[in-house]
Amino acid sequence: EKGTYPHYMLKEIDEQPFVMRNIIKHYQNEDGNLKLDDDIREAMKETDRIYIVACGTSYNAGLVGKQLIENIAKVPVEVHIASEFVYNMPLLSEKPLFIFISQSGETADSRAVLVAIKKLGHKALTITNVPGSTLSREANYTLNLYAGPEIAVASTKAYTAQIAVLAILAVDAARAQGIELDFNPLQELAIVANAIESLTDQKETMERVAQEYLSETRNAFFIGRAVDYFVCLEGSLKLKEISYIQAEGFAGGELKHGTIALIEDGTPVIALSTQEHVDLSIRGNVKEVAARGANTCVISTEVTKDEGDRIVLPEVHEYLTPLVSVVPLQLIAYYAALHRDCDVDKPRNLAKSVTVE
Ligand code: F6R
Repeated sequence: EKGTYPHYMLKEIDEQPFVMRNIIKHYQNEDGNLKLDDDIREAMKETDRIYIVACGTSYNAGLVGKQLIENIAKVPVEVHIASEFVYNMPLLSEKPLFIFISQSGETADSRAVLVAIKKLGHKALTITNVPGSTLSREANYTLNLYAGPEIAVASTKAYTAQIAVLAILAVDAARAQGIELDFNPLQELAIVANAIESLTDQKETMERVAQEYLSETRNAFFIGRAVDYFVCLEGSLKLKEISYIQAEGFAGGELKHGTIALIEDGTPVIALSTQEHVDLSIRGNVKEVAARGANTCVISTEVTKDEGDRIVLPEVHEYLTPLVSVVPLQLIAYYAALHRDCDVDKPRNLAKSVTVE
C-alpha cells in the first residue's frame, strides 16, 4: 500500500534506507560477520571470469557490480545486455560463472540467456527480489534483495539493493581467496542508509532542481566519469521513462568526440562528481559545456565539493557512492515527471515485468 504517498515511486525511493538495513540484517550471522551460502562462495572462488547478464536498470546495477567485483575480489567481469547476448555470444572463458540480475526474476530476455548457458553446462547465480521467480528457480544459486515488493514501473530501491548485494558478494569472494580488506560492507552500508536518509529529507531541493533545469526542456544530459558514468546511465533512464524527456547518460571525456554538438543555449547538463581521481576532469567537462551555453548542475560528494555545486552528497565509502549519488537523480526524475503531468507510476508503453523477448 502506498499509504500517504502520492505515488509508489516516491514511497520506494524513501524506503531505500530501510532496504539497506534489511540487507545488513539478512546478510550477517550472530557474530556480526558476513553470511553467504558456501556453494556461492565456492562458485565465486572456482570461476575465472564472471558474466553479468541483465536488462535496463538491472544492467546499470551490473555495471557498478563489475567495478565492485573487479576491485574487491579481483575477478574479471563482463557485463552484457541480455537481449544482445543471445544473438552475439562472447567468447567464454574456461570456467565462466553467470550472474543474472533481475528485480522481477521473470524477464524473458534474461531467461533466454539462462536457458542457453545451461545447455552449455554453465552455472548461474540469480540476484533477485522475488525468490520463487523463474530466474531464481532455474539458476543454481540465488541471492535475495530483500527490498520488498517494487510496484512503480520505474525501478529505484531494487537498483540500490542490487548494488548493495553485489558489494557483499564481492567481499565474500575476496575473503574466500584470502584477500585482506579494510572494507566492511555491513558497516559501510549502515553509513549509506543514513546518507540516503539525509538526501530523501531534501526533497524541496530536488524538486527545485527539477523545476529549474527540466520543466521546459526537450532533452537533458547526465555526465560523469568512472563509476559516476554508470550512475548517469541510470539517472538518464529514470528521467526518460517517466518524464519522456530525451536524456543521455554520457562519459564526460567522450563528449568532445561528437556529442557536444548537441549542447546549445539552455541544454540541461547534470554532472556527477563523487570520485577524487576524476573530479578535476569532470569539472573540466562542465566548463566545456557551460561555455557552449549549457545550464549546468553539479552534484558532488563532500570530498569533491566545490563552490557552486548544487547538491552535496554525504560522505560514504568510495566503493558505495552510487548508492547515494543515484538518489538525487531518482528524485529529480520523479519531480520532473510530476511537474510535466506524467503518470509517474505507470509510464506509457512500459510494463513492470517484461515477459516477452
Ligand atoms: C527501469 C526498469 C527496467 C527494468 C528491466 C529489467 O526502471 O524498471 O529497465 O530494470 O526491465 O527488469 P528486471 O530487473 O525485473 O529483470
